[in-house]
Amino acid sequence: MFHCLNAWKNNSQVANMTISNNNSSQVMQQQIEKRLLIQHLRSITEALTTTAGSDVVKGLTQIPKTLPPRYFYDDRGSELFEQICELPEYYVTRTETAILQECASQIAEITQECELVELGSGSSTKTRILLDAYQNLGLPLRYLPIDVSAGMLENSAKQLLFDYPTLEISALAGTYELALQQLPAKQLPSRMIAFIGSTLGNLNPQECEMFFYQITQALHPGEYFLLGVDLQKPKHILEAAYNDSQGVTAAFNLNMLEHINWLYNGNFDTAQFEHFAFYNEAQNQIEMHLRSKQQQTVKLNALNLSVDFARDETIMTEISRKFDVETIKQQLRAHNLETQTVWTDKNNWFGLLLCQLQ
Ligand code: TRP
Repeated sequence: MFHCLNAWKNNSQVANMTISNNNSSQVMQQQIEKRLLIQHLRSITEALTTTAGSDVVKGLTQIPKTLPPRYFYDDRGSELFEQICELPEYYVTRTETAILQECASQIAEITQECELVELGSGSSTKTRILLDAYQNLGLPLRYLPIDVSAGMLENSAKQLLFDYPTLEISALAGTYELALQQLPAKQLPSRMIAFIGSTLGNLNPQECEMFFYQITQALHPGEYFLLGVDLQKPKHILEAAYNDSQGVTAAFNLNMLEHINWLYNGNFDTAQFEHFAFYNEAQNQIEMHLRSKQQQTVKLNALNLSVDFARDETIMTEISRKFDVETIKQQLRAHNLETQTVWTDKNNWFGLLLCQLQ
């Protein structure tokens, strides 16, 4: 996200150095602004302020202890996550990107004129592969990114508009649930909701069912759902991906405690906790925990909360479920989402499913 922001700033700074470039830069900015609409979904801020910290209290006072994954993502967390995506052991991003590069033109051929809605768009890096495919077929480009980070949305949207002169963007800053209920009216004949990066794996089975239901409510029959899922594979490959040798995933996990300290005036000592991730084979999921190295008490003053930890007690911070193509296809079918095509890599490590609402 910082790259985008800097590139954007540099463009205007460079352009401001001469009068003629200044004019063209202004024209360019005006043209970009005409093609950009950002809607801030109101209830997200309400939801965050009225219940601030209640999820932390709930998670830390139950047994076993948990913390919601949304606390991973402060500025440092987002930066560390971008680094995770580049790690040699973290095959997920690389594999999905390679599959997208292979199949994007087929997707565009199947869907034809189609708006791209993306849930959790982040830096929109993988989106470019799809936009290129639509552009190569001479199809109109309309993109509806959805993300909880308004700053990230705005920066990546402006960069995309700069790079794709015919693109129109209507961005929604908010949660998936709210955004799916409030999608703007369709302007092209069809629509595809993309949920890639195996973020589905971070939802528990119950949340996953609810999510599929929300997808079906947001689509009309004949419209598309593009889903990227990480597939089941040997334990040692999975465990290496979430326990990288450079310790970036560990830093990412521990950063959640720093973020919570900052938000709620807490005194978590990150030196007294360690990253602990393993593959739970019975449940087909990676579980990420923070393990207390000793018996200790932590205080979160702003929440009036004092939490006791036994030595080796853990806080679960994330699950990452690993799927099987046939099972996920059946689950989708139960929601009237019929899988049209499945693409995978040569190792069968990752699956990209193109579904259509019946
Ligand atoms: N959805 C991805 C995955 O489960 C990204 C992700 C979420 C992640 N939390 C993570 C990656 C923690 C590494 C560490 O793999």
